[in-house]
Amino acid sequence: MKRLLLPALLFFYHIVTAQTGFVRTRPFNDSWKFFLGDAPAAEPSFRDDSWRKLKLPHDWSIELPFDSTSPTGTGGGALRGGIGWYRKTFTIPATEKGRRIAILFDGVYRNSEVWINGHSLGKRPNGYISFEYDLTSYVKYGTTPNVIAVRVDNSQQPNSRWYSGSGIYRNVWLTITDKTYITCWGTYITTPQVSEKKATVNLQLTVQVPAEKKQALAAATTIYNNFGKEMATITTGVPAMQDTPVTVNQQLVVANPSLWSVDNPYLYRAVTRLISNGKIVDEYTTPFGIRYFSFDADKGFFLNGKPVKITGVCNHHDLGCLGTAVNTRALERQLQILKGMGINGIRTSHNPPAPELLTLCDKMGFIVMDEAFDMWKREKNKYDYHLDFDAWYKKDLTDQLLRDRNHPAVFIWSVGNEIQEQWKANNDTSGAAILRELQQIVKSMDNRPTVTANNDPNAYNVLLQANATDLIGYNYNHDKWSAAAVQKAWGRKPFIITESVSALQTRGHYDMPSDSMRRWPQRWDLPVENANADLTCSAYENCSAPWGATHMEILKEFLKNDNISGMYIWTGFDYIGEPTPYPWPARSSYFGIVDLAGFPKDAYYLYQSVLTSKPMLHLFPHWNWKPGQTVDLWAYYNNADEIELFINGQSQGVKRKTGDDLHVMWRVTYEPGIVKAVSRKNGKVIMTKEIKTAGAPAKIVLTPDRNIIKANGDDLSFVTVKVVDKNGTVVPDAGNLVTFNIKGGGVIAGVDNGLQTDLSSFKANTKNAFNGLALAVVQSKSKAGDIMLSATAAGLQGATTIIHAR
Ligand code: GAL
Repeated sequence: MKRLLLPALLFFYHIVTAQTGFVRTRPFNDSWKFFLGDAPAAEPSFRDDSWRKLKLPHDWSIELPFDSTSPTGTGGGALRGGIGWYRKTFTIPATEKGRRIAILFDGVYRNSEVWINGHSLGKRPNGYISFEYDLTSYVKYGTTPNVIAVRVDNSQQPNSRWYSGSGIYRNVWLTITDKTYITCWGTYITTPQVSEKKATVNLQLTVQVPAEKKQALAAATTIYNNFGKEMATITTGVPAMQDTPVTVNQQLVVANPSLWSVDNPYLYRAVTRLISNGKIVDEYTTPFGIRYFSFDADKGFFLNGKPVKITGVCNHHDLGCLGTAVNTRALERQLQILKGMGINGIRTSHNPPAPELLTLCDKMGFIVMDEAFDMWKREKNKYDYHLDFDAWYKKDLTDQLLRDRNHPAVFIWSVGNEIQEQWKANNDTSGAAILRELQQIVKSMDNRPTVTANNDPNAYNVLLQANATDLIGYNYNHDKWSAAAVQKAWGRKPFIITESVSALQTRGHYDMPSDSMRRWPQRWDLPVENANADLTCSAYENCSAPWGATHMEILKEFLKNDNISGMYIWTGFDYIGEPTPYPWPARSSYFGIVDLAGFPKDAYYLYQSVLTSKPMLHLFPHWNWKPGQTVDLWAYYNNADEIELFINGQSQGVKRKTGDDLHVMWRVTYEPGIVKAVSRKNGKVIMTKEIKTAGAPAKIVLTPDRNIIKANGDDLSFVTVKVVDKNGTVVPDAGNLVTFNIKGGGVIAGVDNGLQTDLSSFKANTKNAFNGLALAVVQSKSKAGDIMLSATAAGLQGATTIIHAR
């Protein structure tokens, strides 16, 4: 007993000492008011009584109807932009007089202007960047109300190649500190020397000290491990009586560090306290990781000395039916789903992400390519960021680095995706100079490698010729990935596939024969020909855009080249907008390995079979065809030598993957009943999979991903809706209209089914199932209690599920 008590006491002591309860920043998302349209609302006297009350983050576009005439086009998800206003009235206690008060926006799409009490604080065109304004000189104290007003102008369209969302779609924070404080993103941690024995941790602090400050000031930093145990500590003097920010450098040593990796994403915390007259005046916590890595032109990527193939995905920032309004649980669910198929990287295509995504990648072990721009000075769309590039690129890129460079998950800075300056249009080679300048900005702030995502890997690519970035990055062009080809063109530089694949798939839809390839469209600027009338696309590995290839084709190419450090697949999830190559009514993309609702397509299991080690077996398609029809049955598997297939108990033969095969296939004649696959290793059965012919839709089954959620008004439970026959088999083509009803401490935050052409609202309480499935996203209110979600459909037995909000 005694032997246990001491370590336990020490453990709690460290937890307590690690947290002083110092609060400098708090969420500022509650009690906003919103108006869609323009209004003279900057003035504090403006009456907003009739405006809608809401909690941020908020995306107004996702609430609008799909509209074929929207100037955003189907590329922008056929959802309108427009102008919107947000206002918040708040008070600041008189006790805060003499302190610094600042507001931080994680991202506002786009062209925001912010006022406090009628005073304009500034404008920010970029819709993805975070920005802080100092409110101190303009706030009123005590019971006098203050008014923050934000005008968001997303009216000039088109300005994006994908769905951007509109509004204050990321979190807002209020920071109140002493006048002596660590500035916004004012810590920078690097670990220049790392071994198993010890790590040197360098911390650069930026401290604002007011001119009138007379007392001596000290900065004390302590590093805690992830149990709250103190690992190292240092105290340094801070020069006083300055009126500009001062830089303080500290060096600490962590003995026997636990290294951050994708399998063990171990995090430390550096807590820095500014101490004046024996009093803590500011406290700033910087989570960080300790790891080292390198990129090699021949052998690829090494993390902590070990080879790792980065197998990542590109994702856009929308969260399906939730739109772009950021939600930590929705992001976490996406990452969990991706981890489940062996993905270890995220490219934040093509813009700075929500900070919460990076924090999750730190905790969950993803290798992030943090991207800045989709265009520089040459446009992709008439009203896109090219109009703002000259005035803002320096500030935007600098702020992105300041904000993101402490995240251990960030490994690569991408300064541009498929930048038009790659090409010498009108002999313009200005792209080389821009790239050198961006490279110089990054390098002046951080030494992690840079890249540009080039879709043109040829000799006339201005950016590649400039040879300025640390890594050579290609989008697509999988015939040019070998070390010989890359190095012949660009020398011995490390190589990464910034983007690959662009396969097209609709979940649960299969066009036969499975080995007949569809490259759609014929060329990027041509419309799709011979598309299915309903604009569905086959989920066998037999459909891709011509600049890409299928998942299977690309995986084979990827696995055989050692020089490839990694690749980022286009895309992990379907996203709203860019239904390329399909026309209206298609309004969301077909590129995802997982559909917009979060349901895996079959390709998910292809990656799982290659990238994960847990035994798996996936058999598809479904087993509801026309009697006598020829059907291709595919299986993905690992940890087995062979698969035997049975139809209604009759063996269809044993198949094995040979050479570079990544699947096995049987071409069979359909008869209703049961199809079964059995995987064996050394003659021993490893796994079996059965698919049954489904009868008529009979009932609904609800399965929440989590039965207990936090009662904080943010947390979510993702409820899968299945339409099944009387025996519980999912009906693979069921499209029943499902109506949801919610009671208790929750609301329906969104509904979806993953169908790219579904024009019904994401924000309704009804949704048609698509290929047997639908999704309802339940969000807690701020009060604990049970949430009852029920689902009904004409002619079906309904279902109810209970989620506990605590
Ligand atoms: C790439 C581009 C992506 C997306 C993709 C679709 O060329 O970088 O943003 O448009 O094509 O295949």
